[in-house]
Amino acid sequence: MAFPPFHFRNNALMLLDQRKLPARETWLRMKDSKKVHWAIRSMVVRGAPAIGVVAGYGLYLGISRYRGSAAGFFRKLVREGEYLKRSRPTGVNLRNVVDEIVGRVATSGKTTVEDLKRYTFREAKRIHIEDDKLCREIGRHGAGLFRSGDRVLTHCNAGGLATSGFGTALGVLYALKGRKKKFSVYVDETRPLLQGARLTAWELMKSKIPCTVLCDNAAASIMGAGKIDRVIVGADRIAANGDTANKIGTYNVAVLAAAHGIPFYIAAPSTTFDFKIKSGKQIPIENRSEKEVSEGLGRRITPKGAKIANPAFDVTPHRLITAFITEAGVLRRPFRKSFRRLKGS
Ligand code: MRU
Repeated sequence: MAFPPFHFRNNALMLLDQRKLPARETWLRMKDSKKVHWAIRSMVVRGAPAIGVVAGYGLYLGISRYRGSAAGFFRKLVREGEYLKRSRPTGVNLRNVVDEIVGRVATSGKTTVEDLKRYTFREAKRIHIEDDKLCREIGRHGAGLFRSGDRVLTHCNAGGLATSGFGTALGVLYALKGRKKKFSVYVDETRPLLQGARLTAWELMKSKIPCTVLCDNAAASIMGAGKIDRVIVGADRIAANGDTANKIGTYNVAVLAAAHGIPFYIAAPSTTFDFKIKSGKQIPIENRSEKEVSEGLGRRITPKGAKIANPAFDVTPHRLITAFITEAGVLRRPFRKSFRRLKGS
C-alpha cells in the first residue's frame, strides 16, 4: 500500500491535487519554485513530511535555470529556501529540509554552477527516498503496539498522501495489515478541510481496511461507549519536551483519550522533531482563511459579518501522549531521555 502524492520527472514536479480528492485524481505540473510555494500554501500538497520533500524539489526548481556566478548561486539558493519556508509556518519538516539542503550544498566542495545544481537535485532526491524509508521503519516499530481486533481512532490524514507514499500514523496501520491482523478504524472527518473524511477514508478504503467516518464531535460518545482501543495521529512539529503540534482538534482527541484511559500515540519521523525549541509554546500556529470556516458545501454557512477563528493546528501537551512511534523505535516517557535515542540515530 502506497499513495505517493508527487513524483519528479522530466525536470518537473508532478503533484496530485489533494484539494480535489476523493472526487477527482488530478495531477498538476510544477516547473518553478513560485508554483511550488503556491501548491504548499493552497494545500494541493499537505502533511508535514510531504511538504518537506516537495520543498526540497521546489528549491531545486528555484535554482535550476540560474545562470551566473557560484557566489550568486548560493545567494539565490538561500533566498529561494527562505521564500519556500514562508509558505506554511507550523510544520518543521519544511524548515529542516531547506536548511539541510542549503547546508550540504554549501559544504559540498562543488565549485561550478552546473555541479552545484546537480548536487542540489541529488540532495532533494536523497531526502525523498529517506522519507519513505523512515515511514516504513515507523510502520515496523508501531505495528507491534497494536492487536488483532483493535478499534483505532485517527484524526486528519497522516497517510501516504501526507508523506512520500507510505504514511506515518496510517503507515503503522498498513504495516499491521501486512502482518495479517484484523482491525478497524474510526476516522474523524477533521473540520474545516475534511482531510479525514476526504483523504484518510480514501486511502483506507483503497487499502481494504474497514473504516467509519465520524463527525469530529462524535469522538467522546464513541469512546464513552467503549468502542475505541487506541488513538494514533501524526505530527507537524514536536518540541524538545514532547509537546506536539498537529491538525486542529488533535488536542481535543488527546484530552478525550486520557479521560477514557485510551492510549494516545503520535507517529512521526525524526524530521518532525524540533529540538531547538523547549516546549509547544514556541510553535508558531498557522491561521488560515476565514472562508475555510464560513463556507462549506459550496455556500456560506455563517451569518455575513460573523467573526471567525481558523487556527489550522493545536498543541497537545506531552503529558497526554502515551508514546512516540519513530524510526528509532517507540519512545516512552520521560521523553527528554527517550528522545536521546532519536537524536543519536
Ligand atoms: O493542514 P495539513 O493537512 O497539512 O495538516 C496535516 C496534519 O496535521 C498531519 O497530521 C501531519 O502533517 C502529519 S502527516 C504525516
